[in-house]
Amino acid sequence: MPKIHSKQISKELSLLRVDDDEVRYFEALWEIENGITYNSYLLTGEDEVILVDGWKREYADDFSETLKDLIDIRDITHVIVHHMEPDHSGSLVKILEENGFRAEVLGHPLVRGMMRAFYGIDVKFRAVKDCERLSLGGLHLEFFHTPWLHWPETIMTYLRGHGILFSGDAFGGFSIPPAIFDDDDEVVSSYLPFVREYISTIIGSYRQHIPRNVKKLMDQRLEIRMIAPAHGLIWRKNPERIIEYYLKIADGIPEEGKVLVIYASMYGSCEEAGNIVAEELKKQGKRVITYGFTDVRWASINKIIGDAVDSESLIIIAPTYENAVFPTISHVADLIARKIPPNKPILVLSSHGWAGVAGKKLAERFRSANFSVIDVVEFKGKPDEDVKKRILESVSKLLSQSSTN
Ligand SMILES: Cc1cc2nc3c(=O)[nH]c(=O)nc-3n(C[C@H](O)[C@H](O)[C@H](O)COP(=O)(O)O)c2cc1C
Repeated sequence: MPKIHSKQISKELSLLRVDDDEVRYFEALWEIENGITYNSYLLTGEDEVILVDGWKREYADDFSETLKDLIDIRDITHVIVHHMEPDHSGSLVKILEENGFRAEVLGHPLVRGMMRAFYGIDVKFRAVKDCERLSLGGLHLEFFHTPWLHWPETIMTYLRGHGILFSGDAFGGFSIPPAIFDDDDEVVSSYLPFVREYISTIIGSYRQHIPRNVKKLMDQRLEIRMIAPAHGLIWRKNPERIIEYYLKIADGIPEEGKVLVIYASMYGSCEEAGNIVAEELKKQGKRVITYGFTDVRWASINKIIGDAVDSESLIIIAPTYENAVFPTISHVADLIARKIPPNKPILVLSSHGWAGVAGKKLAERFRSANFSVIDVVEFKGKPDEDVKKRILESVSKLLSQSSTN
């Protein structure tokens, strides 16, 4: 059952959060067993009521009821849209309808057209400029265009005097943290892996925009006392921590000794190669994380992407299948190539029955994304003693090239 939180944070600010434990495949792609939260905020000024983002359409009725406990929806004077992705904007249609479309929607210039295209509505709209300041009912707002965190229309809003940065998708994460704020270090430590997974899967392809936009905010010399994102924990104890974490993951800075072994295996040959590699890596003192796709289990692709981003090297193993790369690994390889910084050497192993092509194709895909492919070992059927020797040689080549060696 989705849980709803309505919490007054200060005289002017309330959080409205829904814990979505019903979603299974976020964006119809990412299997998130631990759910996600949608965070909306309500700012009440002297005679202005400002709604900051919303929830997913499926929770529009709950959102409306939760808002009605706090205000009369017809009194909302402004709606700030940081990001048009429907997990935030989907419920705004209902709220605007109940508001009689009186509220002025504030957002990036692209938002007006997206509102029309996504929801068929024409709203009273005011495009905010980059670095524009606007005072509403004693609340001093400043808007920043932060493109590609995570779409082109993404903005952030800074509430001057209060030091609050409403950051939209940025500085958010997957999962349903058992707290509202970052006050408890244990809560934060168990939440950060979900942040890593969120950054690498959702923003990974646009990762270079993380440092660019952070620099832009830092150049403004904002005094950030609280970061209020649209997903997950609110950062008030240590807002720098989430900024630094985002920068670290955007750069793909490896955890020392962390190596990922990813394989698919229909009949056990590639799995056997994976076991040989994992055993050797462990002998060499590495922390090995193995993900396999077999006839009895399937790995979680978002966990793979989340773990790949801060690994020091990757080993990818796949059979040749219909003269191509085995489909699950082809998909995973494509996601790695698009979303993960190429600062990790890769070793490719591949088994075939009569004519191997998967190893070469995988190496091409990774090289096209600027990864360094240390070696490709193609073998027929199960790895025999000779193949095993070649695999071990290529593992030591890989280790000698790993960035943290
Ligand atoms: C459906 C299917 C398609 C295959 N296609 C090819 C192929 O195009 N070329 C090839 O050399 N081997 C092909 N093979 C053979 C496998 O690549 C080979 O048996 C390999 O050792 C399987 O590795 P695994 O035991 O890890 O699944 C195919 C096997 C299956 C089951």
